[in-house]
Amino acid sequence: MDKIIVHGGAALNGSVRISGSKNSALPILAATLLTKEPCVISRVPDLSDIHYMLTILSELGCEVERASGIVTVKAEKVLTEAPYDIVRKMRASVCILGPLLGREKEATVSLPGGCVIGDRPIDLHLRGFEALGAAVRVQGGNVKVLAPELKGATINLRGKFGSTVLGTDNVMMAAVLAEGTTVIDGAAEEPEVEDLANFLIKMGARIEGAGTRRIIIEGVKELHGAEHEVIPDRIEAGTFLVAAAIAGKEVTLKRVDPAHLQAVIEPLAHAGYEISNGKDYVTLKANGSHKSLTLETLPYPGFPTDMQAQMCALLAMTNGVSAITENVFPQRFMHVAELKRMGANIELQGATAVITGVDRLSGAPVMASDLRASAALVLAGLKADGMTEINRVYHIDRGYESIDDKLNGLGAQIERVKI
Ligand code: UD1
Repeated sequence: MDKIIVHGGAALNGSVRISGSKNSALPILAATLLTKEPCVISRVPDLSDIHYMLTILSELGCEVERASGIVTVKAEKVLTEAPYDIVRKMRASVCILGPLLGREKEATVSLPGGCVIGDRPIDLHLRGFEALGAAVRVQGGNVKVLAPELKGATINLRGKFGSTVLGTDNVMMAAVLAEGTTVIDGAAEEPEVEDLANFLIKMGARIEGAGTRRIIIEGVKELHGAEHEVIPDRIEAGTFLVAAAIAGKEVTLKRVDPAHLQAVIEPLAHAGYEISNGKDYVTLKANGSHKSLTLETLPYPGFPTDMQAQMCALLAMTNGVSAITENVFPQRFMHVAELKRMGANIELQGATAVITGVDRLSGAPVMASDLRASAALVLAGLKADGMTEINRVYHIDRGYESIDDKLNGLGAQIERVKI
């Protein structure tokens, strides 16, 4: 198991290329199950979550080839039951349910594991499948969905914490091969949902409204192979923007979509960072002094829950009192105890972190608890005095392609140690 050691104090300067989006690539790879023909997906990031998904596809019987970010999948024949050993490692494996149900009218996966950020139920996914005519059974830790035929329906996927991203993906992937029209109300508006829909449309699906709250799908009889390039990872990009705010002089993110980053750019600009952008790049200059912020996480286009931990790290070192309320996963504060071990002054009041900025954090041995929490600890270490040692680095490798190499390319001093 690797650990990462961050030597604090080095300034970041220069440019970094952002990878393809993990959260787009995962459902898009699952969607290749919908056709017997080959699909070619490019800009697939090299991450352990992607590796799990490709292993699941292979175990289901697909031919999978991968070469430098390009993945080819041919799902000529597929099994309908995914192996527990791999599925349990990644919650997003649940998104094979929709395409298998659409194609084979049957699918079984074990109930998801993955990130430790609250209960993370899949009731809304299952509600959607039931509306399309599927029966749902939970037995022996598995969930099985089964339908003699799928019929289009009107479905509302809004839950008490907003809509569901993978739930919207799942229902959309089942509905593309259902008979008739499906209307998904309360759909997730995330760019990753739109990216999946664009891929499905290239495969022959008929979908309108992806990226808005109402998606309308006209079922078709079958889909064909297609090629698709995954969109840039807005969370990796946001993480590097915050890294630049914490420790940067002037940092440019290349190959990004600035429109997808507005919810992160706006508060940083409000805090006093100088941010400019072109069609596919964003530059942050960390001039002058910076203000505290009051933020709340919300579904897209709001401030993303996947950026909350990293922003906590920045605000822990920003003068004044800041507050971040977590509305999407109210228990997602595992990083707070670790940041406090580094000297941060953060008080949790229900689902709100009240952060009183301190001048300096000090390096300490800390434990990564989930993907974004680990990123926050790396970012905090960039400016902390001395050495920050982050254990359980496998969490970070689930979602960041060579974060240590990329930050070192900007001037950070990070070592990866094999233990
Ligand atoms: C996706 C992202 C994850 C991100 C999250 C919210 C992927 C692979 N992961 O996760 O990085 O943090 O969106 O932006 O794309 N909920 C229910 N019932 C359900 C499903 C969800 O109550 O059936 C709740 C969740 O517990 C949570 C909220 O809805 O409180 C949003 O979750 P959801 O959008 O489903 O997250 P994921 O799609 O799993």
